[in-house]
Amino acid sequence: MVRSDLPGFYRLPIAERRRLMSEMAGLGQDELALLERMGALDEATADRMVENAIGVLPLPLGIATNFRINGRDYLIPMAIEEPSVIAAASNAARLAREGGGFTAKCSEPIMIGQILLEGVKDSGKAAKAILAKKKEIIKMANSFDETLVRLGGGAREIEVRRLRENMLAVHLLVDVRDAMGANAVNTMCEGVAPIIEKASGGKKTMAILSNLATSRMAEASVVYLGEVVGKEVVNGVVSAYRFAAADPYRCATHNKGIMNGIDAVAIATGNDWRAIEAGAHAYAATNGYSPLTKWEKTEEGNLRGSIRLPIAAGIVGGATRTNPIARISLKILGIKTAQELAQVMASVGLAQNFAAIRALSTEGIQKGHMKLHARNIAITAGATGGEIEAVASRMVEEGKVSVDGARGIMAKKPGRKQLGTRK
Ligand code: MEV
Repeated sequence: MVRSDLPGFYRLPIAERRRLMSEMAGLGQDELALLERMGALDEATADRMVENAIGVLPLPLGIATNFRINGRDYLIPMAIEEPSVIAAASNAARLAREGGGFTAKCSEPIMIGQILLEGVKDSGKAAKAILAKKKEIIKMANSFDETLVRLGGGAREIEVRRLRENMLAVHLLVDVRDAMGANAVNTMCEGVAPIIEKASGGKKTMAILSNLATSRMAEASVVYLGEVVGKEVVNGVVSAYRFAAADPYRCATHNKGIMNGIDAVAIATGNDWRAIEAGAHAYAATNGYSPLTKWEKTEEGNLRGSIRLPIAAGIVGGATRTNPIARISLKILGIKTAQELAQVMASVGLAQNFAAIRALSTEGIQKGHMKLHARNIAITAGATGGEIEAVASRMVEEGKVSVDGARGIMAKKPGRKQLGTRK
């Protein structure tokens, strides 16, 4: 039986941890060899990045093509396991080019940190006392990150929100420039908590940034020309949007499709995609759960789409620097600021949403998905090289996408002696 109490496991060298895992899980030599393949992330870096590292988990990194944002072309790295996402984004971006591409903007990179207080007797009086110390609090917050201040960022504002009886949320608004900002904001919030506690007469329960980054908003818009995409698509996308606006069950899936694109760029660039996800869904839920995009038909019969959501993404610090592939992704993007990255992400989210609801409201999603899925099935069945595409196409034509189906097709091929046996 496996034991999970492994004292000192974290102190072992990575190779030793792997050996132990391999013993405990009964891994074969070939499996151990796979775990040893670190790719671009060397062992020392992986070991520093997380506790108890034993390897890396590779994901395909692809490039979404055709994107034109604010009049500039971008090649957009995306890391994702879902076969259709990059193809769909590239295709949506190609169609968008005909109408001039995407227009995007982003607010200043302001993150919100929270100092959460309880036991506050008179919240009105406490709020006044805290706000009276605003200058002192901001000055003190900035003393915790002089580098950020030198780079043009820093704490900017204080807000006080009464939550429930005796509970206050004090917000510290911090311009984090090109960072995601969690570390800077958390340090500042913890640092200023004692003066805030004293002024309020309450007790700090915690001090931490909020992932509902409503002061760090990204927006993008696009026009798909009716003559390019066709009337059926214009009407179909608008109907699909109306369903997302009418039903949270549909809306969750609609927003998931948007996040397929945004997360893939976040992962490729070493960003905290969970933070972006949390922010997106919390923002979508602020007035009843709503779609992050809007679609309408213009008087000229074109399709106008827009997206607005908080995006806390950085281009300095964390894995954006420690992961060499993330650094390469940022180079491929050729962006200069975190705000520009957020604009790219918003545009990709909008494109991804168009691609998904266009397919759903016309031919359905399975046709395109199946084509890509069939390739994976063909590989699983043992197809190699050019055979993969041939077997996949045949399965789709026959409407039977399965490993057995692929083996059957391959068996019929003259000259093919052995059937694939890969599991
Ligand atoms: C699948 O990953 C994403 C979609 O379900 C999005 C949507 O339904 O809008 C296709």
